[in-house]
Amino acid sequence: MSLRRRTVGPSTAAIHGDGPSHELGAGVSPPIHQSSTFVSEQGGGGSEVLYTRYGNNPNQLRLAERLVRLENAEAAIFVGSGMGATALAHLAVLRSGDHLLSSEWIYGGTRRLFTEDFDHLGIEVSFVDPDRRRDWRAKLRRNTRAIFVETPTNPCMRLIDLDWLSVLTQEKGIPLLVDSTFASPINFRPLEHGADVVIHSATKYLNGHSDVIAGAVAGTEVFVEEVRDRMKLWGQALDPHCAWLIERGMKTLAVRMERHNRTGLAVAQWLEVQPKVRRVHYPGLPSHPDHELAVRTLEGFGGMVGVELSGGPRAAERCLKALRLITHAPSLGGVESLVSEPRFTSHAAMSAEQRASAGISDGFLRLSLGLEDAEDIIADLARGLGA
Ligand SMILES: Cc1ncc(COP(=O)(O)O)c(C=O)c1O
Repeated sequence: MSLRRRTVGPSTAAIHGDGPSHELGAGVSPPIHQSSTFVSEQGGGGSEVLYTRYGNNPNQLRLAERLVRLENAEAAIFVGSGMGATALAHLAVLRSGDHLLSSEWIYGGTRRLFTEDFDHLGIEVSFVDPDRRRDWRAKLRRNTRAIFVETPTNPCMRLIDLDWLSVLTQEKGIPLLVDSTFASPINFRPLEHGADVVIHSATKYLNGHSDVIAGAVAGTEVFVEEVRDRMKLWGQALDPHCAWLIERGMKTLAVRMERHNRTGLAVAQWLEVQPKVRRVHYPGLPSHPDHELAVRTLEGFGGMVGVELSGGPRAAERCLKALRLITHAPSLGGVESLVSEPRFTSHAAMSAEQRASAGISDGFLRLSLGLEDAEDIIADLARGLGA
């Protein structure tokens, strides 16, 4: 099945459109403004005070402009981590006494934020199994102020139909917040499907080199201003050098995603026919429960693949020991292939029963495929499986 054709999606101009300067002697690479503060007018003078914690350092601003173009948003802001982005985006809309409706299929850290810290702040959170569509409406309350989902999900790569869900949020007049880390704006842009706010762990695909921790929020001017205000007060600004590194990483985002998408599909197809593999979770495979939605809405199936081995946790352990190219480490979206076990990393905070109900069996392996040749990755997995 062929993927959806790009219509108004990002182009290389989104990243490269405003640089480099053609002025004689100008640097081709932008400078790093490694400065906490900037010369300001005496007596106030009405001009904006430039201070890196306020998010108005030139490196922070250049980076935000690029995400605005990539996500087709009005405004964007980068902050100190993906968790920071998730927390600030919610703090921008929720107050004590409010209720949040969240998908059950979310990153473990986000789940802890909702169940532990939001509880302390007097914000109630209820979870919906997205497979039970009717529950979204049934669990809405008078004080529900937002709906949050992650799509594609970590680690089963399930997809949530935003075109459908956003009818409900629009009817209720509340924002739909979407963590779109796994897709990157190259493969999916939630704002084009009725979402109001996009959240990224920029640590992952946006930066793409496993050397920075950062997060981003994109949406309307008004919403992002509210996030900016919370960022100033909760001290979540991104360091200028990190902003520069992410800008450099984003220059190759489209090219990297093209490769991740190709390798993801090749590896998933190979894994699916291996006798020692019980199940492969990849939206590009017809066996995936959301394959039809993936074909309709994604522009690439991505580089994340979930694998369950027939031999369970023991087989997973043996496989990890045998791998030579694929590195055992948490995180994802970098140039190098990584493998992790969600039960010990992203979903460690959940009980075995909660994980099982979310489709994450013990021994589930999550692959983040890098930019190595697909044949080399497959050869390493063959070694891991003893195939
Ligand atoms: C989907 C998703 N959202 C958010 C985060 C948090 O990002 P960070 O580690 O940059 O804080 C992660 C981290 O793995 C993630 O996978």
